[in-house]
Amino acid sequence: MSQRETWATRVGFILAAVGSAVGLGNVWQFPFQTGANGGAAFIVVYLLAVFLIGFPAMLAEFVIGRRAERNPIDAFARLGHRNWRVVGILGTLSAFWILAFYSVVGGWVIRYIIGSVRGAYFSGSEAYFGAVSAGPEAVAFHALFMAITVGIVAFGIAGGIERSTKLMVPSIVLLLGGLAIWATTLDGGGAGYAYYLSPDVDTLVSNIGSILPAAVGQAFFTLSLGMGAMITYASYLGRDDSLPIDGATIVVLNTFVGLLAGLVVFPILFSLGIEPGSGGLGAAFITLAGAFAQLPAGRLLGAVFFIVLLLAALSSAISLLEVVTSYLADNTSYSRPALATALGGAIFALGIPSAFGLSILAWYNAIAYNLLLPLSVLTLLVFVGWVDTGDAVAELRRGTGLSESGAVAWLWFVRTIVPLGVLVTLLLGLQTLAVDAGLLAEAIV
Ligand code: TRP
Repeated sequence: MSQRETWATRVGFILAAVGSAVGLGNVWQFPFQTGANGGAAFIVVYLLAVFLIGFPAMLAEFVIGRRAERNPIDAFARLGHRNWRVVGILGTLSAFWILAFYSVVGGWVIRYIIGSVRGAYFSGSEAYFGAVSAGPEAVAFHALFMAITVGIVAFGIAGGIERSTKLMVPSIVLLLGGLAIWATTLDGGGAGYAYYLSPDVDTLVSNIGSILPAAVGQAFFTLSLGMGAMITYASYLGRDDSLPIDGATIVVLNTFVGLLAGLVVFPILFSLGIEPGSGGLGAAFITLAGAFAQLPAGRLLGAVFFIVLLLAALSSAISLLEVVTSYLADNTSYSRPALATALGGAIFALGIPSAFGLSILAWYNAIAYNLLLPLSVLTLLVFVGWVDTGDAVAELRRGTGLSESGAVAWLWFVRTIVPLGVLVTLLLGLQTLAVDAGLLAEAIV
């Protein structure tokens, strides 16, 4: 077999991982989850979840990937635990599943860039969303988004993913930063900052049961955990840089971009008297597009915003396609372009139903959020925390000045607090799914 690929530079790996993390989850979902879950109170829990649960879990994925230098499925066998491959299989199938509908939303975003330039949604953002979000045209733009994703992955780790994310991630930060600065000039935007930045303790305490699973789920989704993406990216490291430092950089940058997105979205909405967070998946598109329609230079601002969203979505989608591609690239002799194309086609097909109705897409999303992600992270944590412990500690310390006790503290977290938090999230998430299924059944009867 030919030499396995590696990242060309350390910065390249970090930016690729940031690109994976920064996605629709940050720019589209995060501000609206915040709105739906009580504003700043949600952000407090979310930040705790990111640093106390997400960060240790990310290091767990890194440790597996770098040590095994294999795709998420074969990694477990390579580490001497063949039966644990089911964890990798679950993650890989989940990546397949998430990308299927993620790409449909990516297609909407392309559509909205064009729509912004033309002012197409200016006369009625709700009707526009209805027209573009489902139906044959949604399928066509889903295909376009997937084709671009395949095109990048086909060029490989250093030549495709690394090179493209080195351009995309800085562009996202610059454009979003520019929009955030512009947003400070909005009349009445101040209420948006207050809502966003000053937590209300009463809201927090009385809604913790619904805030917690939403915050933890959001933390996993935004950090790209539970789908083997970080295992896969770490498997191409082939070097001894510090995993904790790289991981912390990724987590901090990702959080920064999420908060920055809030500094754009909330002032815009509040300056126009719109309450964020009501409505479902489509709300972000409808309310924001509606806001751009009312703003001076709305066409330009809308186009810039949706370009940011497209870059963010693409740099995440490539990490999901890479998870599945890496499995076949490690195990077959087909060329990477051929594999990426075939898999992209299959994922495209799986996504088609979700391009025919918002409720179908919401169902795809709910399965991923409430079931696949937490289950996959939980099993992974049990593996690193209880099965592969000694080697994991050594791997975390490799290439760092981290003391044995520092690494053991991490392991302790991975064994206890983190899986407990995930377990609670999983149970609450399953309850949500059951309620949804009940509602669905009622609606049918
Ligand atoms: N993190 C991305 C976002 O915020 C989505 C994503 C990419 C993802 N890869 C993932 C989510 C792997 C879960 C697992 O939009």
